[in-house]
Amino acid sequence: MLRVLVMVSGGGTNLQAIIDAVKSGEVTNTELVGVISNNYGVKSLDRAALAGIPAEVCSAKDFASRDEFNDRLLERVDSYKPDLIVLAGFLVVIPEKMIDKYENKIINIHPSLIPSFCGTGYYGLKVHEAALARGVKVSGATVHFVDKGTDTGPIILQKAVEVKKGDTPEVLQRRIMEEAEWKLLPQAIDMIANGKL
Ligand code: GAR
Repeated sequence: MLRVLVMVSGGGTNLQAIIDAVKSGEVTNTELVGVISNNYGVKSLDRAALAGIPAEVCSAKDFASRDEFNDRLLERVDSYKPDLIVLAGFLVVIPEKMIDKYENKIINIHPSLIPSFCGTGYYGLKVHEAALARGVKVSGATVHFVDKGTDTGPIILQKAVEVKKGDTPEVLQRRIMEEAEWKLLPQAIDMIANGKL
């Protein structure tokens, strides 16, 4: 069984997609061993609790310095002994130490077709605002391994999604989640859990 730790910052619809896919058997050989949120009071924590997955908050606001936060975050991650760390809307820069320690064991979902609309400053709704401002007709989502750059690691899966006339960032975000993100992330976990990568 692949021990999967999911890291989140907000609503957790991708976390929910993973929980549902493990429950339904769409994702096999996988145990969700924990959820870490960097924010208090987010819906992700309720989703984890409902699914009976241990969850906790590790917030930078509770530490005097970034180094202290990073050390504590890595300590908490280690405590779950994960085989795979899934960044499911985790909007925190991953400490270098963690990337070194978990090389090729951290994956991220990004809401665009990398290399478009990615890198520093492109996260959440900002990605969709930029895509609409540029006038692209197709966007999508990407699952990739995490390396020391921002959204630069090897690509695992991508799916294109149509941009429609009159889309707002919110409408486009939702379509990309429904048509791409919620499918790709469970699929990538299943591939890794079953040695297909
Ligand atoms: C998702 O759209 C995810 O792709 C994005 O944040 C959202 C989280 O939603 N991640 C990034 O932008 C990473 N750069 P969720 O909390 O409902 O899963």
